[in-house]
Amino acid sequence: MLKITLIEAARAGAAEIQRFFQKEFKISNKTGVNNPVTEADHASEKAILGVIKSRFPEHYVLSEEAGEIIQDSNYKWIIDPIDGTINFAHGIPINCVSIGIEKDGQAIMGAVYNPHMNEFFFAEKGAGATLNDQPIKVSRESSVVNSCLVTGFPYTYINMPNGPLEVFDRFIRKGVPVRRLGAAAIDLCWVACGRFDGFYEHKLEAWDSAAGYLIVEEAGGRVTDFDGNKYSPYQHRILATNGRIHDEMLDVINKRKEL
Ligand code: IPD
Ligand code: CA
Ligand code: CA
Repeated sequence: MLKITLIEAARAGAAEIQRFFQKEFKISNKTGVNNPVTEADHASEKAILGVIKSRFPEHYVLSEEAGEIIQDSNYKWIIDPIDGTINFAHGIPINCVSIGIEKDGQAIMGAVYNPHMNEFFFAEKGAGATLNDQPIKVSRESSVVNSCLVTGFPYTYINMPNGPLEVFDRFIRKGVPVRRLGAAAIDLCWVACGRFDGFYEHKLEAWDSAAGYLIVEEAGGRVTDFDGNKYSPYQHRILATNGRIHDEMLDVINKRKEL
């Protein structure tokens, strides 16, 4: 029932994304510059919450636009109704619904659905990861210089040692391709299915990564913070790789090694 509900919820949100995509919609700004929320974010969230509440009204929910719906429950749904809102608002078909589920504080299931490409990523703890029901695996690349990476930049500039531009500079100066798709949940899933060898970002929120990080782990990858500690979606920094390039990427990010 949990899995069916998760899949239905992701599909319901994605149907709203498609209803508004490349059409007219209302758009407003959250705090900061270029941090928009659209009518479609709210419509997707409403559809997702409708499905979850109809089956599991007692479950705890954390959703990007609605915030925390606090219940006394072992289960927690962590929802990004549109990951990649700026892409969505510009008609760029790289955006998705992302929904993770925790039980007793541990990630147990995740779904990321990009309806524009009809790509449905799913993982269940201990049962592997799939793309459109076919098993997926991370890549086998073992050196960073031969890797294809992806990153994202926060809406608020982070000025600090080993900040986003410094780390980016270290990779691109050596000719390592570093893409920037604009949807962290998709970045993670594209690591999981081997299109990218690694993804890092300095300031994610729980709803950006809660589903995607389990999908990477279940596809055989490794996900940590920038110190190499086990990843928690409740801190900001993430490094997700195929496992083989992980330590080398940590060294470059922390400036212990030059490529
Ligand atoms: C954003 C995207 C982007 C990442 C930002 C996120 P949103 O989510 O995942 O790739 O760089 O940090 O906030 O705002 O489109 O849901
Ligand atoms: Ca997001
Ligand atoms: Ca969002």
